[in-house]
Amino acid sequence: MAEVKRLPSLSEFEAFAFEMGGKAQAGQVFFLEGEMGMGKTTFVQSFMKGMGSSEVVSSPTFRIIHAYTQGRLPVVHMDLYRLKREKEVLSIDVPGSISPEGVTLVEWPELLKPWVKGPVTMLEFLALPEAENGRQVVMKSLVLGGG
Ligand SMILES: Nc1ncnc2c1ncn2[C@@H]1O[C@H](COP(=O)(O)OP(=O)(O)OP(=O)(O)O)[C@@H](O)[C@H]1O
Ligand SMILES: [Mg+2]
Repeated sequence: MAEVKRLPSLSEFEAFAFEMGGKAQAGQVFFLEGEMGMGKTTFVQSFMKGMGSSEVVSSPTFRIIHAYTQGRLPVVHMDLYRLKREKEVLSIDVPGSISPEGVTLVEWPELLKPWVKGPVTMLEFLALPEAENGRQVVMKSLVLGGG
């Protein structure tokens, strides 16, 4: 079952992400989906503030995996956009980088999906046609089978 949030402005989007960071629980995995520029990294920035961390969140495009330790829970932020093949997922141990005791947020998660077992929250960010800088967030809870 999907829940749809309509967020007509950047500040409402940031408030939503902040609230999600405040509520997140140990072991949660979030898949952040949506086209380039839809707000996946922006979501992580406000999410971290909601977790009580003032760490600067950068786009992990060049590092692929960033770990943040200053918030209420440890956070791992991944951006798998540059991974082209499944074997790269394993060579840098992306599945093993999921934080069991913290929260994991994954941009461009497609290549990781076959390796994840258990519950995942999927957030898809879409444009909101009637508001220029608005976003629609489709939220779904899934249980992945790990293969
Ligand atoms: N309502 C909104 N929600 C989210 N971002 C918005 C909104 N309005 C404007 N923006 C801007 O859109 C941009 C979103 O960029 P961001 O890097 O978060 O996208 P992304 O989904 O991570 O892209 P990529 O796939 O390239 O990593 C930011 O510059 C942000 O300020
Ligand atoms: Mg990004």
